[in-house]
Amino acid sequence: MAKILDGKALAQEIRDELKIQIQNWINIGNRAPSLRCIIVGDDPASHTYVKNKIKAALDCGIEAQTLKYEATLSEEELLKVIKDLNADKNVDGILIQLPLPGDINERKACNAVAPEKDVDGFHITNAGQLFLDMPTIVPATALAVIEMLKRFKIETHGRNAVVVGRSKNVGMPIAVMLHSDAKHENGLGMDATVTICHRYTPQEQLEMYCRNADIIITATGVAKLIKAHMVKPGATVLDVGITRITTAEGKTKLVGDVDYDEVIKVAGAITPVPGGVGPMTVAMLMQNTFQAAQRSRKLQ
Ligand code: GUN
Repeated sequence: MAKILDGKALAQEIRDELKIQIQNWINIGNRAPSLRCIIVGDDPASHTYVKNKIKAALDCGIEAQTLKYEATLSEEELLKVIKDLNADKNVDGILIQLPLPGDINERKACNAVAPEKDVDGFHITNAGQLFLDMPTIVPATALAVIEMLKRFKIETHGRNAVVVGRSKNVGMPIAVMLHSDAKHENGLGMDATVTICHRYTPQEQLEMYCRNADIIITATGVAKLIKAHMVKPGATVLDVGITRITTAEGKTKLVGDVDYDEVIKVAGAITPVPGGVGPMTVAMLMQNTFQAAQRSRKLQ
């Protein structure tokens, strides 16, 4: 049976560490780090995600507020909200919960956030710096995966890794860090050989690449995509997918991209869903916010 990589416990450990670091930082005369979450519209899942982020922030000692807007908010109005937060010296981190409804251009909105306050790491500057191995702000989910590999001491140097999913905010930044040179200045490189698979990878090719992998990271939102026969015995499997399904008994349940009950018998290590990468993502957002506050104070 695989070792279970308990993201919930690790995230709590990291949040406890951050809480102490933030309290020490406040004790030497700094104001609390501050986060603003913008949410537009009434998507229930997005509201739950934002509530969890705010709760985690307050728990760590980060001052946090949600700015809620109706789905009728125009792009121009949203850009004005972002502009005002960029100019506000009491705000360290800005997060725009995605997806945005209506005709608002998400890329334009993400690029409107000041790069130094972009705690989601979605700004073109932060994405570009990551691709160039420069110090940057890394999207929290991608950082969660890398932090789990590091903290659970999963060897990546020279190993074969497959990333299933090529989204710009999750799959791509994970693939970038996994393949990058660990000697580079941002300290994020993992020296793995990386294959990226996606919706147009033929099934037999997906199976072949996965079977050859020492590490599988999957982020597709396709429930039970990764089956036991696709996993090399002893491989590490990190599951970023979350899908809400209805069971035969009519109950709703969250499942990942991995056929967990079968893959656990083959893999060497595996993340559960829920309780794996998800809680770590929230912890990494807190880390990004504290780091943004520290950098901003250094510049003053
Ligand atoms: N929507 C789904 N995941 C995320 C995330 O990590 N950040 C933001 N801002 N929106 C999301």
